[in-house]
Amino acid sequence: MTVVAHAPNATLDIDRIRADFPVLARHVGESPLVYLDNAATTQKPQAVIDRLVRYYSAENANIHRGVHTLSVEATDAYDAARERVRRFLNASDAREIVFVRGATEAINLVARSFGTARIAAGDEVVISEMEHHSNIVPWQLICEERGARLRVVPITDAGELRLDTLAQMLGPRTRIVSVTHVSNALGTVNPIAEIVRLAHARDIPVLIDGAQAVAHMPVDVQALGCDFYAFSGHKVFGPTGIGVLYGRLPQLEAMPPYQGGGDMIRSVTFERTLYNDVPNRFEAGTPHIAGAIGLAAAIEYLAGVGIDRIAAHEQDLLAHGTEALTAIPGVRLTGTAAHKAGILSFVMENVHPHDIGTILDRYGVAIRAGHHCCQPLMARLGVPATARASLALYNSHPEIEALAGALRAVRKLFG
Ligand SMILES: Cc1ncc(COP(=O)(O)O)c(C=O)c1O
Repeated sequence: MTVVAHAPNATLDIDRIRADFPVLARHVGESPLVYLDNAATTQKPQAVIDRLVRYYSAENANIHRGVHTLSVEATDAYDAARERVRRFLNASDAREIVFVRGATEAINLVARSFGTARIAAGDEVVISEMEHHSNIVPWQLICEERGARLRVVPITDAGELRLDTLAQMLGPRTRIVSVTHVSNALGTVNPIAEIVRLAHARDIPVLIDGAQAVAHMPVDVQALGCDFYAFSGHKVFGPTGIGVLYGRLPQLEAMPPYQGGGDMIRSVTFERTLYNDVPNRFEAGTPHIAGAIGLAAAIEYLAGVGIDRIAAHEQDLLAHGTEALTAIPGVRLTGTAAHKAGILSFVMENVHPHDIGTILDRYGVAIRAGHHCCQPLMARLGVPATARASLALYNSHPEIEALAGALRAVRKLFG
């Protein structure tokens, strides 16, 4: 039997993949690094690092304003990056891709721009109890300003959205629904297509926070049907400071500018400014050119490995981790939804998550401890914080064992 490289159902060659990420070779103290903080940020493959070096070494110029060769090349590379992101999300038009600083800025852009045009006193914005602060605070700001009301869909004890309540909350005053695709603190994968169906039945647009989704599963914005989709480059093996807002063309075209400055205009006089078409209307000033190009390289890398194979590998690791962690006395998983991706959030009886994180670091195991920018969710769970191990394509079964072993050592230490 011949095995076809990168066949959709072939298992990943983890050693080969790990060799693509130089930082994974390092030690923390005496121990090899076990990097399980991927929900905070992912490590970068050599292909992305090389692309950034090549850009700054040989191609660096400002875009859109030059006639010289370097500027034309940089503009072409930036435009090609936009097209690469379009293909990645299966958007129907490259103009639907707006480069921003990250998921946070993408959501702020929509809250501010869409909000200014469409949210009035007495209107409602629907979010959920499992949102990251970046999908809460921008809506609070615009609701406060406009005299609108923020409504919050509750979750079950397992960490699943109460879809029945969501359906009941949608009404004639609902202006937008904004929910996460994957919870960064629970790992829950939300049924986005179903949420969009419920909202669109009432002509309500939907924004999806995809920060924790794009590195772990295929995302097709046309199949999901959402109006907006936000993600950050650094969580998908790209550089920090670059991210994407996808917006359906009619939505973006109806929205006023978010920031003023160069590139977002068609013409300016002191009396009147005419704005540029989308997406330039939303990209005021010199953008993060290198970031966009680096992000395209990261997406190319991801596509080369195969997002379906990555998803399958991570589901395998998640099942292993769930079993290994629940076998440790006193450990309780927070987030036990039927459909999860990449996140093992947990508490340990009589041990503060920060102590867990600090002790694990002595074993070279990098996890996160805290409220994960989800304070309202922590209040709902009745805990001040959790410990969180979060997975990526380069994590391995021996690393799950290293995590479990270090946690057993913590348990022993605290009796
Ligand atoms: C679900 C979710 N949304 C939004 C964000 C914000 O991402 P960024 O800080 O890259 O803008 C994060 C970051 O952790 C996240 O996990």
